Amino acid sequence: MLAVGFDVNGGPEVLRPVELPVPEPGPGQVLIRVAYAGVNYGEMCHRLGDLGAPDGIDVPGYEVSGEVAALGPGVTGLSCGDPVAAFLPDGGGYAEFAVAPAAFAYPLDGISLRDGGGVALSLTTAYGVLAGAARLAAGDSVLIHAAAGGVGSAAAQIARALGAAAVHGTVSTAAKAVYAKRFGYDAVHIRDGFTAHVAELDVVLDPIGGPTRLASLSVLAPFGRLAVYGDAARRPDLSLPVLPLRQQNRSLAGYDIADLSRRAPTLVRAHALAALSLLATGAIRLDITAELPLTSAPEAHETLQSGLNLGKSLLRVS
Ligand SMILES: NC(=O)c1ccc[n+]([C@@H]2O[C@H](COP(=O)([O-])OP(=O)(O)OC[C@H]3O[C@@H](n4cnc5c(N)ncnc54)[C@H](OP(=O)(O)O)[C@@H]3O)[C@@H](O)[C@H]2O)c1
Repeated sequence: MLAVGFDVNGGPEVLRPVELPVPEPGPGQVLIRVAYAGVNYGEMCHRLGDLGAPDGIDVPGYEVSGEVAALGPGVTGLSCGDPVAAFLPDGGGYAEFAVAPAAFAYPLDGISLRDGGGVALSLTTAYGVLAGAARLAAGDSVLIHAAAGGVGSAAAQIARALGAAAVHGTVSTAAKAVYAKRFGYDAVHIRDGFTAHVAELDVVLDPIGGPTRLASLSVLAPFGRLAVYGDAARRPDLSLPVLPLRQQNRSLAGYDIADLSRRAPTLVRAHALAALSLLATGAIRLDITAELPLTSAPEAHETLQSGLNLGKSLLRVS
């Protein structure tokens, strides 16, 4: 089968077409004939070496859509030919066939394969950060950093669907602020200096890190939650004293889908199904701004790495 992978860490140029054997689904797994693969920041981190150096060919890709092509031993509730969106905790989605845990293969009911290609990681994360880590409650005010990105654009809509009273965002450029407004933000601010525009927030979603993380703590209301789920700025980790959290009634929460998929897979599935149901009813939508052939993965990664991406990008596989 055709796949796109890398055998050395580096820039987008290390991604190249490779021929690999079709993987076999093991117990509890399904084989998927991939239609679309979502492009995610985490795949860029994989390529850059955050998971270590590849041992042979590594194929990135944490989310796909497609049809179930084969069932591994013990799989029930799915049949060959079923259209699914799937989360692949070990990657492998930039390929004509990919193996996913059956628990993370979600039937696409009323959702196209195209939309389904960009949901199993992005939407699940957006829902999980809001409902799980940040414990969003109806009436809460929310600030979402990287508001125009894949997770951010979904999170704004999900926050609204869960009853958030005010939804603010931050982005790096004025053009992104204009773009992001379509997702229902009350206001989208330029990230530099955002604390001048917001205060007393119940929830802040932070996939950025560094100074943005510190500044985000300062705008939390009493019992406000800062939900940390990424380090897109690629800054060193922070060392934070705990006492100010107690003295200022502020909380820090974390979200990591890799850890959840190992320790609480039923939560991952519940968050995914809840988000997919919002998508199926039209309460939220996916804004697919780029659809490229599989072999153009380097181009998609270049856009992501330069911070120029908007909404959701997909690779068209078959
Ligand atoms: N913890 C988890 O389980 C989990 C799961 C999925 C995703 N995530 C995280 O969620 C975040 C969003 O993921 P995504 O795939 O939807 O990506 P994305 O938001 O579509 O793209 C990443 C965004 O990060 C911002 N950014 C800030 N500093 C950057 C830099 N130095 N280089 C590139 N971008 C930079 C850019 O937005 P601005 O132009 O607005 O700055 C960029 O658009 C990422 O941090 C990712 O690691 C975490």
